[in-house]
Amino acid sequence: MQTTAAPAPIAPVDLAAERAELGTALHEAVLRVLDSGKYVLGPEVEAFERAFAAHHGVAHGVGMATGTDALWLGLLAIGVKPCDSVVTSPFTFFASAASIALIGATVRLADVDYDTALLDPLKAEAAIDGRTSAILPVHLYGQLADMRAFRALCDKRKLALLEDGAQAHGSTRDGYACGQLGDAGTFSFYVTKNLGAAGEGGIVVTQRADVAQALRQLRDHGSPTKYVHTRIGTNSRLQALQAAVLNVKLPHLERWNARRRQLAARYERNFAGLDAVAPMKLAPGATHTYHQYTVRIRGERSRDHVLAELAKQQIFAGVHYPHPVHLQEAARGWGYGPGDFPNAERLAREVLCLPVHPFLSDADVDRVSQAVRAAAGV
Ligand SMILES: Cc1ncc(COP(=O)(O)O)c(C=O)c1O
Repeated sequence: MQTTAAPAPIAPVDLAAERAELGTALHEAVLRVLDSGKYVLGPEVEAFERAFAAHHGVAHGVGMATGTDALWLGLLAIGVKPCDSVVTSPFTFFASAASIALIGATVRLADVDYDTALLDPLKAEAAIDGRTSAILPVHLYGQLADMRAFRALCDKRKLALLEDGAQAHGSTRDGYACGQLGDAGTFSFYVTKNLGAAGEGGIVVTQRADVAQALRQLRDHGSPTKYVHTRIGTNSRLQALQAAVLNVKLPHLERWNARRRQLAARYERNFAGLDAVAPMKLAPGATHTYHQYTVRIRGERSRDHVLAELAKQQIFAGVHYPHPVHLQEAARGWGYGPGDFPNAERLAREVLCLPVHPFLSDADVDRVSQAVRAAAGV
């Protein structure tokens, strides 16, 4: 009896393919750290901090244990206090907003643009209150928010500016990378990011020497020298083993991002002219790095129907994010409710993030596109 082979799964990441491409380099780097005995901070971390900051055209890089810590300590380093408020996006990974709340500051939300899912500078300005000390735009999906507008706004209103670039390694807008126009920019190296550690990691990049110095203390118990504590800090040091992995991968980032752009262009052609499967739009002046390739499912069939149909065919798409920040249980008490941010709420219902990692083939993208069209009935 003849059986037809099940189609190969298509997942949001392919860590095995990435490891295979890197050959023995990762193993050698990990062994180098183990043999060195320098596990906490040290030369691997310093080399990575320099290389990653230089890659983004920024003067300083300070490695952190996670992207969430990078946000939390980044806000503290630019001067946010518990009595302040900070304006951010309601359509992001929850950590962007939680980092503000972790300080004890008030989270002020402003709606995103429906076509890019990026914080709208005009709406952000309208959300500023008497206690606002900073704005925190999020570079969602791999494309930067309008940083020239945010810089001008923060200069005008005398506010600090922190960029959440957790999804935007190597992205630019109007020629500027994350961290160049803000007082600081943060990144996550969670496994699945465009530049991912073998576990967790994060970094803050900044042009400001005073912010970099504050961050080096904040991540190390507020301690400029051993057993001397000049401020309250925490333990959030980037692991040397993770830095070694990141040092191996960083030289490949631009090529991997370029491949993501090729795959996105192919999806774009495959969905051209459809209203029911509407790709998010490219912002003017943006070099997108497609951490996610996202479409809005807005025909007769729901996004969740399309998601389930894809899964039946071994195609594993994602939903980033199914619930806007202000409707999360943890955000009760922030003073928001249903209907407050219509674009964020609509996107939470419609977005579908299709596989886009650099190890996919053109044929994979065509298979996903066909499956999406069939499931959406267009
Ligand atoms: C937009 C955004 N901000 C913050 C974070 C938090 O980073 P981490 O998971 O490294 O703590 C993430 C990561 O998932 C993210 O996508």
